[in-house]
Amino acid sequence: MPALDIIGDDLKVALPSGEAVRFVHLDYAASAPCVAAAADAVRDLLPRYGSVHRGTGVRSQASTLAYELARDVVAEFVGAGPEHEVVFTRNTTDALNLLARALPAGTTTVLFDAEHHANLLPWPNQLRLPAPASPAAAVADLDAALTDLSGPVLVAVTGAGNVTGELWPVRQLADVAHRHGARIVVDAAQLAPHRPVDLTGLGADYLAFSGHKLYAPFGAGVLAGRSDWLDAAEPYLAGGGASAAVGDRPADLSWATGPARHEGGTPNLFGAVAIAAVCEALTAAGPDALHDREQALLDRLRAGLRELPGVTEVSLFGPDHPRVGIVSLAFDGRDPADVALVLGRDHGIGVRAGQFCAHPLVRRLTGGTTAGACGDGTTPGLLRASLGLGSTAEDVDRLLAALRDVVRNT
Ligand code: ALA
Repeated sequence: MPALDIIGDDLKVALPSGEAVRFVHLDYAASAPCVAAAADAVRDLLPRYGSVHRGTGVRSQASTLAYELARDVVAEFVGAGPEHEVVFTRNTTDALNLLARALPAGTTTVLFDAEHHANLLPWPNQLRLPAPASPAAAVADLDAALTDLSGPVLVAVTGAGNVTGELWPVRQLADVAHRHGARIVVDAAQLAPHRPVDLTGLGADYLAFSGHKLYAPFGAGVLAGRSDWLDAAEPYLAGGGASAAVGDRPADLSWATGPARHEGGTPNLFGAVAIAAVCEALTAAGPDALHDREQALLDRLRAGLRELPGVTEVSLFGPDHPRVGIVSLAFDGRDPADVALVLGRDHGIGVRAGQFCAHPLVRRLTGGTTAGACGDGTTPGLLRASLGLGSTAEDVDRLLAALRDVVRNT
């Protein structure tokens, strides 16, 4: 049984034989299906839908209240304190771009080249470190890199890699960063759907995640973190809502502080409400139970993969390093993109192939040299299968059986 009610988990697809089978979604790392709690929250609010922060009528009041309650729920989900704020964005990429624009002048950003492009490309004035071979090397390399830096510094790191699912030593990296007077932002796009994301527990100054990977596909994401840089920065989107007072001359204006400063224009009410509903549902379901369930499925999948000749699971930190429910595979003599097509067409299984918007990392993991297009499925890359709340043992076994079939026919 799925861990939470998933909308569309009974979706059927027709195989070339004409047989209709249940579609197996194993691409949670790209976008997760919607959970019922998110859709229910949206449907319940629709009859009272109105403008947020912009009206006196009952619709506007109900919508404003729902939006700010959603912020409170997310703040609790990430363990935000009085020094933090929660800004609703479009997705993780948007959240990290917002923070990149809010950095004090002259900030140096430090990151490893193993990052997803969302956490690789936005940062100005970069010191880019090569992907480390181990968590201990990551900590040592960061320590060395920060030693010679002065002025404001932001370290950007992923919580869990979108290619290998491996957990990064965020807490240790945060301790190193703070010892050097730097701040740290965690790309939690792949962490939040699988593990608690607590700002204090992670030691993070900021974290970002996406609703569409957190079972809330209504176009919103989150940036949570320390208010001071955000309040001092130019608004991310200049316009209504971000402005406190506007005079007749261009220079005669003051900007809002708090989340409103970076949420110019009418915000995405349903996206925010859906994320909050999922945060509550995940908390109610019990993060430990969800984690144990997913790890059991992951163990089943990885044990089955080890039995397949010519199939190799790639890894940055080694096969025993803790990870979330993501595996990426290389095939002897087969293009992963072809295998992914066969899985979809002949077996009704959805995975992703390519370089997963992490080109430098995938090149390193595959020994490749060619830069390919993000998600085009035709460049040298890997095949990725990723688990989530709707995944079952039957899904895992369907994938393993299909891969067995592919390997046999290679
Ligand atoms: N970042 C998403 C992925 O890894 C889209 O597939």
